[in-house]
Amino acid sequence: MKLNQLLSAALAACALSGAVAGEVEVLHYWTSGGEAKSAAELRKMMQSKGHTWKDFAVAGGGGDNAMTVLKSRVISGNPPAAAQIKGPAIQEWAAEGVLANLDAVAKAEQWDASLPAVVASVMKYKGSYVAAPVNVHRVNWVWASPEVLKKAGVAAMPKNYDEFFSAADKIKAAGLVAVAHGGQNWQDFTTFESVVLGVGGPQFYQDALVKLDQKALTSPTMTRSLETFRRIKGYTDPAAPGRDWNLATAMVMQGKAGFQFMGDWAKGEFIAAGKAPGKDFLCAAAPGTANAFTFNVDSFAMYKLKDAAAQKAQGDLAAAIMSPAFQEVFNLNKGSIPVRLNMKMDKFDGCARLSSKDFVDTAKSGGLVPSVAHGMAISPAAEGAIKDAVSQFWNDDKITVADAVKRIASAAKTN
Ligand code: BGC
Repeated sequence: MKLNQLLSAALAACALSGAVAGEVEVLHYWTSGGEAKSAAELRKMMQSKGHTWKDFAVAGGGGDNAMTVLKSRVISGNPPAAAQIKGPAIQEWAAEGVLANLDAVAKAEQWDASLPAVVASVMKYKGSYVAAPVNVHRVNWVWASPEVLKKAGVAAMPKNYDEFFSAADKIKAAGLVAVAHGGQNWQDFTTFESVVLGVGGPQFYQDALVKLDQKALTSPTMTRSLETFRRIKGYTDPAAPGRDWNLATAMVMQGKAGFQFMGDWAKGEFIAAGKAPGKDFLCAAAPGTANAFTFNVDSFAMYKLKDAAAQKAQGDLAAAIMSPAFQEVFNLNKGSIPVRLNMKMDKFDGCARLSSKDFVDTAKSGGLVPSVAHGMAISPAAEGAIKDAVSQFWNDDKITVADAVKRIASAAKTN
């Protein structure tokens, strides 16, 4: 065959199969062991559809670094095809007019019927889908080393702060680190929001941290939350400042520390290291939060691109993300649960099943609240300001609780 014949045969084959291979550049911050394994599942799925995956991973837990890089790329007129963004930030990007409309895929794949309403509304801007959700992470967990608990004579996972501090004292007395912590703003706040939820309950959490109600923010319950939060710091080690979250998880894994307050991406780390829940590590709702659930939904927004092949690849990426097969394999690795409704949970472990049950139960009871630490609740500007105030308090023992109450309440006025 001559070259032009070859070309037209190839084009005809393409037209018949409807396949247009494109490149998808995907910005994400999944760089730890468990996270990278999860991201690889998405890459594999896109490659199996003939597309090229261009990995744009920006290290830094919680995604602060990734968001900075994303902004500069979009401002310079060169956005990636897709980026891992979530919560109110999705609405902010959509309002800039830079996000692609995913309604065609969403309609064909019946997203409205497959997603909890609370999640679908976050993925939409003015009624149209602009992002595709991958999972539901629960943030209010505490992880523990059974080996450390045994050595220290702690019989069970603590259900409230009295039990927690008594267990932490025993671990300290046994010469081990009671709380593995990474001193970074988002990790400080991950612990803080679980403490507020445990001390004040879901209604107080909503009023203080979601509605940013000044009365709640300056109430005695906020004082008690800050006192408890500061007390926890006394159980962390001197090397905590700046430590990455997965290194804190490793301390629990290696039997060097008893507990870690962290969302269930920590479970992804344990699983990637071949550890089994119930045997090598334990999971429990953070003290006082068994009837509540701080949710954190990872999602990908697609940026407007001109190239037809790239647009096709974006549509395929959105469809892949929401497919039952991907939702299962991704979440088995990531530590989260599928966001898609009515998925079978038989391959998931006890922590994930508890999460799935509690997600449904708390949606009915009012205990389901958005995570502030993970960008699900308030504007990025207010979130940043409150996080700074909380971390300043955590890092500087000279700041009194009363002073911190004032600083946080004033930061909450940022918009
Ligand atoms: C994200 C998770 C991620 C974690 C640590 C959270 O904000 O939702 O997907 O694993 O940060 O980077």
